[in-house]
Amino acid sequence: MTGRRVLITGATSGLGREAALQLAQRGCRLAVTGRRLDRLQETASLIRERGGEALPLHGSVSDPLDVGSHYDEVRRAWGGLDWALLNAGVAVTQEGGTPQAQDYRRVFETNVFGVVHWMEAVLPDMIRAKSGTIAGVSSLAAYRGLPGSGAYCASKAALNTLLESARVELRGTGVRVVTVCPGFVRSEITDRNDPEEMAFFLETPAGVRLMLRGIEQGEAKVFFPWQMSLLVRYLLARLPDWLYDRVASRRSMKWRECRSRH
Ligand SMILES: NC(=O)c1ccc[n+]([C@@H]2O[C@H](COP(=O)([O-])OP(=O)(O)OC[C@H]3O[C@@H](n4cnc5c(N)ncnc54)[C@H](OP(=O)(O)O)[C@@H]3O)[C@@H](O)[C@H]2O)c1
Repeated sequence: MTGRRVLITGATSGLGREAALQLAQRGCRLAVTGRRLDRLQETASLIRERGGEALPLHGSVSDPLDVGSHYDEVRRAWGGLDWALLNAGVAVTQEGGTPQAQDYRRVFETNVFGVVHWMEAVLPDMIRAKSGTIAGVSSLAAYRGLPGSGAYCASKAALNTLLESARVELRGTGVRVVTVCPGFVRSEITDRNDPEEMAFFLETPAGVRLMLRGIEQGEAKVFFPWQMSLLVRYLLARLPDWLYDRVASRRSMKWRECRSRH
């Protein structure tokens, strides 16, 4: 990995920051993005402390102008990218069963359009270079509509599908597209959850090690932890709707109780 040019979106906390630090230790050059300037500068300092080269890019993945100017900076500094780890994401919890358009818009603008903006920026150069890896961080939540998380689940299902289309379209070009689907990993998103409700919970460094290993091993889809992946993809995703609805609505009542207690 030494000298490899890596972009990580959403590197001001959670999986993104930890991935930047692990890759810095292995000699990568890291372009890191995020909206919180103080946290972004902190990530850049931590990268440099580990001997890595950092290029902090302040702004939002939802804004195509920010993404365009960020990629221009990357090109000026390094001529292009070897890896784009498109990780920035947001989650909202919705109550009451009536979808709120503004929640959907905010989540899709980050989780879906944030990835599309970056793919649009970097892919032409990667295709010309006949090499490069795009890894989009989706979620095991893409596999079923979880109560209270319609916007998040729908955005990750859309992301899985668009990454799959790109993977097939780019076959034979030298550019790889990887879909990453984590279960529960410690981060600012999961800090809001009840720990007892997160099965097979992983600490951030362990989750990120599994994510990076899967991407490096050339897998098209990276799922972790394996226990949660089996549970979701082979049990939950295959339950008939009548049974899924019963199980999921019971969970939904429990979550609501938990939230009213906290
Ligand atoms: N943790 C889990 O259990 C889990 C499970 C499945 C999937 N995921 C996915 O993993 C990814 C990372 O999330 P995380 O769990 O590490 O949560 P996190 O700690 O909240 O990190 C999210 C990162 O995304 C950035 N971000 C959000 N909106 C952005 C925007 N518009 N432009 C640029 N950056 C933005 C945040 O930075 P700023 O606020 O500074 O912009 C932050 O650095 C997300 O895509 C999430 O859906 C996480």
